[in-house]
Amino acid sequence: MEKRASWSGKWAFILAAAASAVGLGNMWRFPYLAAKYGGGTFLLTYVVLVFTFGVSLLLLETALGRKTGQSAIGAFKSFGKKYAFIGILASAVPFIITPYYCIIGGWVTKYTAAYLVNGPEALADGGDFFTGFITSNVESYIWMLVFMALVFIVVGLGVKGGIEKANLIMMPALIIMAIGIAIYTLTMPGAVDGALYYLTPDFSKFSPELVISALGQMFYSLSLAMGIMITYGSYMRKQDSLTSSVTRIGFFDLGVSFIAGLLIVSAAFVAVGSGDAVAAKAGPSLMFITLPNVFVDMGGMATIIGFLFFLLVLFAALTSAISLTETLVSIVQDGMKCTRAKALGIVIAFVVVAGALVNAGYNGLSFIEPLGEGSSMLDFADFISNSVLMPIVALLTCVFVGWIVKPKTIIDEVRVSSKFSLAGAWTVMIKYIAPVLVVVILVAYVAAQFG
Ligand code: PHE
Repeated sequence: MEKRASWSGKWAFILAAAASAVGLGNMWRFPYLAAKYGGGTFLLTYVVLVFTFGVSLLLLETALGRKTGQSAIGAFKSFGKKYAFIGILASAVPFIITPYYCIIGGWVTKYTAAYLVNGPEALADGGDFFTGFITSNVESYIWMLVFMALVFIVVGLGVKGGIEKANLIMMPALIIMAIGIAIYTLTMPGAVDGALYYLTPDFSKFSPELVISALGQMFYSLSLAMGIMITYGSYMRKQDSLTSSVTRIGFFDLGVSFIAGLLIVSAAFVAVGSGDAVAAKAGPSLMFITLPNVFVDMGGMATIIGFLFFLLVLFAALTSAISLTETLVSIVQDGMKCTRAKALGIVIAFVVVAGALVNAGYNGLSFIEPLGEGSSMLDFADFISNSVLMPIVALLTCVFVGWIVKPKTIIDEVRVSSKFSLAGAWTVMIKYIAPVLVVVILVAYVAAQFG
């Protein structure tokens, strides 16, 4: 029997989990959701969710992985064949996310290059550059393929180790840059009002849709409810503390999102002048339209700052995309009992075809508007994975552990390596609060759609 690979220590796990967690979710997705859903109201909801539900589920998934020594499907199946479907459902999520993740990755790659090729002025034209690019019939596909090629090369050559070490330098660099640019942005006229919009909750903005979006964002950003953390947990050593590891990952991921949100929401506020105007404009394009307008005002530094910023975001996106692709490869390999090379081939074919199809939603197939006027297929893929599938997988996981295998199974596993003084609170969370929250939110949300 081949011995199962394991992390070289606690920090190797934290690093790998952080590399998977910190990505476009923090830099691109969180800021536009915060802008869209009333700034501070969204931020507060998100913070509360991360430190209650999020960290609890992160602990559950890693402990489940370590206990069973299996990835998602095997982990659920080891408690009985009939539970495998939860793992299968979880495994469906990265198949939906990866193709469109690579499209956004392509946008970031394009922008990194464009700062050098086209210059900062060309990008700061209120959105025409961006729209022209994503609706192009050739160029948008090329950059998607460039990003995918980078991901496949790393996964194919198995050079992940080096990438993750580089991450150790790039990630702090990204944070320092983001803080620096945030401070610069805050000195612009009107930016402080933007920061206040971002920081001050306005409870009249609270809605089921806000909560479901915050919840979906939390799963997405922490790489939860899609089997990944179960797999990562399965590589963990019995002596490494799960509780301290997951808290660190939660803090780190939240910190990056917080800064990115502060930067982008304040900048958007400067551009349009009011919270409502920001909310009305916020969407997947926010980062690509707002930031170039801030960068261009930096004069001689604009090119280098713009280039560096997108390069670092590109790096964060790459490490996450690699984690997603690795997951797909292992699902296909286990499912089809084939070699890794064959599995990789299948994954590449799938991601390229699905990515091209979703990308066509911005050009050739833009008449398809699955979520109503102005929506794209990318919005739809994002919606199905984040607002539908992941909450359902999280619900099933909590019910499964809370009521079927019983919380004690997980608590015992956690206690193998550390104290777990919050075991009581955790149990209440997993057994009652989390499932009820997900059900109430899903029902309220569906009712609001049809009401
Ligand atoms: N968490 C990543 C992000 O925030 C996305 C991701 C999800 C990566 C699942 C890997 C697995 O961008």
